[in-house]
Amino acid sequence: SVYATEKEASLTVARHIAEIIKDKQAKGEIAVLGLATGATPVRVYENLVNMYKNEGLSFQNVVTFNLDEYYPMQPDAKQSYVSFMDEHLFNHIDIKRENIYIPNGTLKKEDIADFCIKYEHKIGEYGGLDIQILGIGRTGHIGFNEPGSAPNSGTRLVTLDDLTRRDASRDFGGKENVPTKAITMGIGTIFKAKEIILIAWGKRKSSIIMKAVEGEITGNVPATYLQLSDNVKFVLDKDAASEL
Ligand code: GLP
Repeated sequence: SVYATEKEASLTVARHIAEIIKDKQAKGEIAVLGLATGATPVRVYENLVNMYKNEGLSFQNVVTFNLDEYYPMQPDAKQSYVSFMDEHLFNHIDIKRENIYIPNGTLKKEDIADFCIKYEHKIGEYGGLDIQILGIGRTGHIGFNEPGSAPNSGTRLVTLDDLTRRDASRDFGGKENVPTKAITMGIGTIFKAKEIILIAWGKRKSSIIMKAVEGEITGNVPATYLQLSDNVKFVLDKDAASEL
């Protein structure tokens, strides 16, 4: 779907997430949300916070799994995805801290593989992701699945693309300070979600959105794998959709 503005699109996505949470609540069940970071979802989270404050939307029955985290990364660093999620969502709602899962950027190298397997298992224990929210990087990455990622990849340690590190350099005060690696859910992990919504706004994203939606399916643009699934929706503003 294409919306006139980021604002409208974000509200629609937030309302949809709220519906999932409320449906689950009505059935006495847990809602399992797959969440993303970056500038793109900020307004979605802002709307969810407003619904908590003004409409009594509760997150007591919500479990969240974030897509990714830089590696190495201390959770209390201001660039960490832990800090990002706290600042934009978790600090402002009634979610239980023990229901928040974000890949751990402080692990020893030799413990990462085991952590990743457990991350996948945890998602499975909760019955899988009810919805996964995705942004898209200019390399065509989803999560931090850079070009070359396999369509059946699982949660793992990856090396970041140069363009991804350049795009992140502002947050880190220079590309040389951007970690070279990250822990990310795999494309296979993302595909298991019952529903996937990829969001993108602005002219900056129009060319990669064109490739993701209309381009040949290729590992060079991991987001093209989303064309293989029926559970995927692209929610765009008109700038991001301008090359379609
Ligand atoms: C980072 C995140 C991605 C995100 C991408 C786009 O690389 N790991 O999940 O989609 O940035 O970021 P932005 O929304 O700021 O354009």
